Amino acid sequence: MTYGDDFQRLSKYSRDSLGGRSPGLHGKPPLYKTYPPDLERFELEKPDRSGGMPLYSALQQRRSERNYGKTALPVSKLSQVLWAAQGVTLSTEYHQFRTAPSAGGLFPIETYCVINNVEGFKPGVYHYQVPIHALVLIREGSFGTGLARAALGQKMLRDASFNLVWSAMIDRSKWKYDQRAYRYVYLDAGHIAQNTALAAVSCGLGSCQVGAFFDREVDEIIGVDGEKEFSIYMSSIGKPV
Ligand SMILES: Cc1cc2nc3c(=O)[nH]c(=O)nc-3n(C[C@H](O)[C@H](O)[C@H](O)COP(=O)(O)O)c2cc1C
Repeated sequence: MTYGDDFQRLSKYSRDSLGGRSPGLHGKPPLYKTYPPDLERFELEKPDRSGGMPLYSALQQRRSERNYGKTALPVSKLSQVLWAAQGVTLSTEYHQFRTAPSAGGLFPIETYCVINNVEGFKPGVYHYQVPIHALVLIREGSFGTGLARAALGQKMLRDASFNLVWSAMIDRSKWKYDQRAYRYVYLDAGHIAQNTALAAVSCGLGSCQVGAFFDREVDEIIGVDGEKEFSIYMSSIGKPV
């Protein structure tokens, strides 16, 4: 099988071709996923955007941490990490910019939070509502063990205080980049995950980034179809022991 090689070759930009843009450059897709208003919503406290560990100390200290303590995590730390991952840093008349860069400013990555053990939160699958820095509960229940099983049995996802799962809404990026969008969504997710990892260190937490998982099983946990929206990356986060 050579589909990876084929993809790399076929999605190259050359001076002759930008790979064919989508026909309809009008009708820009919405940049945020929304859920029905009757779902339970939890507004998170405003993150502290000025303090924290010096950047170079966080870079020096970051390590993939896979063993976590069992005490419930203060919600302030969840708020800090989520904002670092995808929070809004600049709002203009036409656009909102976030902590991480995104190809074309299209922000195709959605953030889900699988909470295992955070003060004041029921275990469940939540969706991060970027513009209002809030979580919406989309599935109540303990999904940590299921997520670990979906990740080839990696127990850190069961033991973490919470896990972030990132999906790509591919049409949001294809609207401008067509097939090259499949390159960009992974790059976007990498930026987000690194922000997450550094913020975790700054909050006295540890994280591990996870790329090994059964895609459809993770899609099912976060409730996405695997075609228009599919899981691409995860991070487990907790207090290292
Ligand atoms: C794309 C990607 C996927 C990864 N997937 C996993 C994973 O599924 N399980 C895991 O334990 N670590 C995973 N890691 C973490 C790496 O094993 C780790 O970053 C590497 O060993 C270097 O160690 P460090 O992060 O402590 O510097 C992944 C890292 C990246 C960047």
